[in-house]
Amino acid sequence: MDADRGFQFRRRRPVSIRRLGIALVAAAIGCASAEDPPGDAAEVETLPLVDLLVLADGSVVETAEDWRDRRRPELLELFAANMHGRTPIGRPESLRFVVREEKPDARSGSATRLRVGILFEGREGGRRMELLLHLPNQVEGPVPVFFGLNFDGNFTTTAEDDLPVPDHYVQGLYQKVPDHRADESMRGCHASMWPHDAILARGYGLATACYGEVEPDLPRQWWHGPRVLAPPGEPDSWGAIGGWAWAMSRALDYLETHPRVDAGRVAAVGFSRLGKTAMWAAAQDERFAAVISQNSGKGGVSLSKRISGERVSNLTGTSIGHWFCPRYRRFADNEAALPVDGNCLAALIAPRPLLILSASEDGWSDPEGEFLSGRSAGAVYELLGHEGLETEEWPEPGVLVDSRVGYYLRRGKHNVTPEDWRATLDWADRHLKR
Ligand code: GCU
Repeated sequence: MDADRGFQFRRRRPVSIRRLGIALVAAAIGCASAEDPPGDAAEVETLPLVDLLVLADGSVVETAEDWRDRRRPELLELFAANMHGRTPIGRPESLRFVVREEKPDARSGSATRLRVGILFEGREGGRRMELLLHLPNQVEGPVPVFFGLNFDGNFTTTAEDDLPVPDHYVQGLYQKVPDHRADESMRGCHASMWPHDAILARGYGLATACYGEVEPDLPRQWWHGPRVLAPPGEPDSWGAIGGWAWAMSRALDYLETHPRVDAGRVAAVGFSRLGKTAMWAAAQDERFAAVISQNSGKGGVSLSKRISGERVSNLTGTSIGHWFCPRYRRFADNEAALPVDGNCLAALIAPRPLLILSASEDGWSDPEGEFLSGRSAGAVYELLGHEGLETEEWPEPGVLVDSRVGYYLRRGKHNVTPEDWRATLDWADRHLKR
């Protein structure tokens, strides 16, 4: 594989401008829709959910072993065949880590900061991503760590003025970024979504990398990232989410090597499409100890069988269809035929702790669908000897349900805010700390 050729958009082909336009319009549609109210539950059509405890051959899952040995692998296979495509490789032999910087007195001395090159091909000119890791200095010994991909570059997650402006593709989550190139004006622009000080003060580490460095979020950019190793072409070829999820596991490969990271307590975190990614990463890679789904929506933890908000036909549309395998298109306007759904994804996290964060005005993600999915997955947690989502009613905004499948509804729009993180830290103190 040869990443040195650069992105297509760097060559400024006219076609990519058009594509960019489509992506921006789609993003605008997504945002606008996210402000729609969730709708009256009584009016929402809900198709029969995938039964988590019945195998495809009709036999019933009765024991933890049945789940572990039969139903869990079956669901993973159904996701691979129909939605995310197959992840054809694990850790490449060539994988290499290069610590580019270790700053022991970051953030006024409260944190140790590392920048680590994760070189998928083992060489600087090859495919790679940079991990930004902050560890709390006030804690001795290994700490639990939240790790999630970001949209617009590591330097947007914190206002620290000595992080480099990246030259890889950035998405432009809430602002238009000309040519998808980051610049100094974006420094710290998403710091409220990544409240480092609050997280570090509670004794957790925080790690992030930019998904656009792994693979630009545009159609037909697969060759730039890990998907080049098994190029798309088959109905079950991995989509971009599969590639980004694979990269999350490579970050975990590094985190496992750091003596101050408790490798058994790394939680996968992700917002929106990156929440879908975090869920799929942790479903496949059981080294992730927990998952925080931040408004992961349809195609994430929400229920596509609940016809409210985004439809599969939206997810398979031209601007974002590359997130999934080609066969997923089969389910556009045909959610009844889906063999997997958000409740299956949530169940694949079991018995590990899962926190579902929703927003009351995020109708596109269907927050009640996210709640009902967690409720449904509870059956698997219980089969495995753990509590599920311990409330029957969809809670009011602002109330944390801190069971093993946790739930928090924030009043407001599709976003991640310090309030979400306060709920997350309260929940994590119970489920991620020893
Ligand atoms: C669009 C898309 C959603 C996705 C969101 C995002 O709105 O339709 O499924 O979650 O983008 O990732 O920002």
